[in-house]
Amino acid sequence: MRKPIIAGNWKMNNTVSQTSALLNQLIPLVKDAACEVVVCVPFTSLFEAVRLTKGTNIAVGAQNVAWAEKGAFTGEISADMLIETGAKYAVIGHSERRQYFGETDESVNKRLNTAVGKGLKAIVCVGETLAEREGGITEKVVKAQIENGFKGVSAADLQSVILAYEPVWAIGTGKTATPQDAQNTVSYIRGVFTSLYGTQNANALRIQYGGSMNAANADELMAQPDIDGGLIGGASLNAADFARVVMYKNLRG
Ligand code: 13P
Repeated sequence: MRKPIIAGNWKMNNTVSQTSALLNQLIPLVKDAACEVVVCVPFTSLFEAVRLTKGTNIAVGAQNVAWAEKGAFTGEISADMLIETGAKYAVIGHSERRQYFGETDESVNKRLNTAVGKGLKAIVCVGETLAEREGGITEKVVKAQIENGFKGVSAADLQSVILAYEPVWAIGTGKTATPQDAQNTVSYIRGVFTSLYGTQNANALRIQYGGSMNAANADELMAQPDIDGGLIGGASLNAADFARVVMYKNLRG
């Protein structure tokens, strides 16, 4: 049985004081969640988020992590730096990093190996663009992202990984993949992990859907057999909306 995990990706939103306000609203709303709850906050908010969520069921994550351990990498934040704040998770390879900041499967791979080697849990993002979907190459794209992104990652390391399937065309657009489309691709992704790591490891891997997931569509998406959670952008910036996603109705029966 895979324990569902729902994570908010705040992206470049919320100052420290805004972080306190949002988390103070959120904490009581999600205290009875059946799933794991994570908030991936800006680096500058990590300390405050960890401080406020201490003793709650909310874990804190960052939105990136450097591949190098330390040194002359201006603007990067190392795994040790994150760990000392109390952060437990790091998002790696988000499509916005790929699109705007030159992130590639190779840099994702380096960040991932460092993160899991240091004991962080990695939320690794893959997903196709609209042109790729329309070109009928979604499966080819996500397969390559996984095969290249996971080089050198052992089956033991995979236990520290959460995979997030985020179709780029669904991010921030209000367009969600239909639950069936999302399930189909997520199931395909699990198959890719089966060929890389075997059935048992692939079946243990938690795979999230991300892309305009919100209070209105979470129940249906979470009802899909291979979807084990969500990576939530816009809707995670509102406590009531994010809490409704986290407290999704279990329609699986
Ligand atoms: P939205 O929920 O705003 O579409 O963002 C999804 C996402 O990119 C989460 O990482």
